Amino acid sequence: MQRKLFLAWLVFLITLTSSGCGKRVTDHEQIDPAEKIVIKFSHVVAENAPKGLAARRFANLVAARTNGRVEVQVYPNSTLYKDGEEIEALKNGSVQIIAPTTAKIAALFPRWQIFDIPYVFTSAEMVYRAMDGKIGGELFDELATQGFRGLAFWGNGFKQMTNGIRPLREPGDFKGLTMRVMMGSQILPTQFQCLGAQPVQLGFNDLYAALAQKIIDGQENTMSNIYSKKFYEVQPYLTLSNHGYMGYVVLTNRKFWDHLPPDIRGILEKAMQEVTVWEREQASLLDEESFRAIRSTGQIRLHLQTEEEKRQWLTAFTPLYRQAEEIVGSDLWRAVQVLKEKKEP
Ligand code: LMR
Repeated sequence: MQRKLFLAWLVFLITLTSSGCGKRVTDHEQIDPAEKIVIKFSHVVAENAPKGLAARRFANLVAARTNGRVEVQVYPNSTLYKDGEEIEALKNGSVQIIAPTTAKIAALFPRWQIFDIPYVFTSAEMVYRAMDGKIGGELFDELATQGFRGLAFWGNGFKQMTNGIRPLREPGDFKGLTMRVMMGSQILPTQFQCLGAQPVQLGFNDLYAALAQKIIDGQENTMSNIYSKKFYEVQPYLTLSNHGYMGYVVLTNRKFWDHLPPDIRGILEKAMQEVTVWEREQASLLDEESFRAIRSTGQIRLHLQTEEEKRQWLTAFTPLYRQAEEIVGSDLWRAVQVLKEKKEP
C-alpha cells in the first residue's frame, strides 16, 4: 500500500513538473540547442587588460539577460585567431565579434588611421568625443561597405615607447633601431621612419618572444598591454611620450547581426552600450594602475618626455602630417583640428 502511494506521488510530481505548472527554473544546460545562439568573440590581449575584461563582462551580462539563450564565448590571447587572421574569420563567419585596434583595420579602411596620427589627440576625453561624434559616425558608415557593422568604440590609452637598447629622448636616439608596428597601418611605419627607426610589422601574439630574443629592439604600446603582457621584463627603457592613442572598434558581421531575432539584438546592443561605458572607465583606471605596477617592479628605466623633446619629435613628423591628411581626407583632418579647439564639428 505504502509503495503504491509513493508511486502515485511520484507520477503526480512528474506530471506537475513536465506540464509547466511549476515555476520555470532556467537551467542553461537545458536550453534547446536549436534555440541557442553562440557568439564567438575573439581578441588578442590578456584577460586582465581593459578589452579582455570588457569582453568577459559582455558575455556575462548577455548570458544573464537572455537566460542562457545567447552564449558569448570569449577567446583571449589570440587563442582562436590572431592578428592577420581575425578580420577574415569575421568575414567568413568563423567568429561573430572581434575588437581590433582601429589601426588594424587600416588596410581595409585607411581613414580609420585618424586615431594613429601622433600628437593629434591630447586626451582620452578628446578621443572619445571624436569616436562618439561626427568622425566616429562617418567611420562607422564605411564599415558596411565591406560587410561589417561597428558595435562600439572601446578605449585603451596612450602609447608609450619601450626598447631594449637605450633611453629614447630625441629623434636621433631611434636611429638604427628596429621598432615593431601593428599590422595593417601605413601611418605607424611612417611615424618610426620619421624618427629614424626601421619599422617591422608583427602580430601582437609574437611580440613578447621577438623582444625577449632581441629580434626587434622596441615597440610602442599602452601601459596595460606593457604590464599584462610583461613587456617590461624584456624592455628596460620606457619613454612616457603619450604620442599616439590606441583604441578599439568592436566589430561584427553585418549579415549575422541582421539575422538575429530583434529582441536578442536589442539585448545585445543595450549590454554593449553599458559595457562600453564601463570599459572606458576601466581603461583609464588600468592605465594608471599598470604604470604604478611597472614602476614598482624596478625593472624599467623611465624617461618622461620633455616639452623640448616633444617639439623635436613633432618637427620630425612633418612629412607624416602631409601623408596623414591625404589618407584621412581633408574633411576628417579639419574635423579633428576643430575638436582640438574643443568644438564639436
Ligand atoms: C597591439 O597589437 O599592440 C595591440 O593591438 C594589442 C591590443 O589589441 O591592444
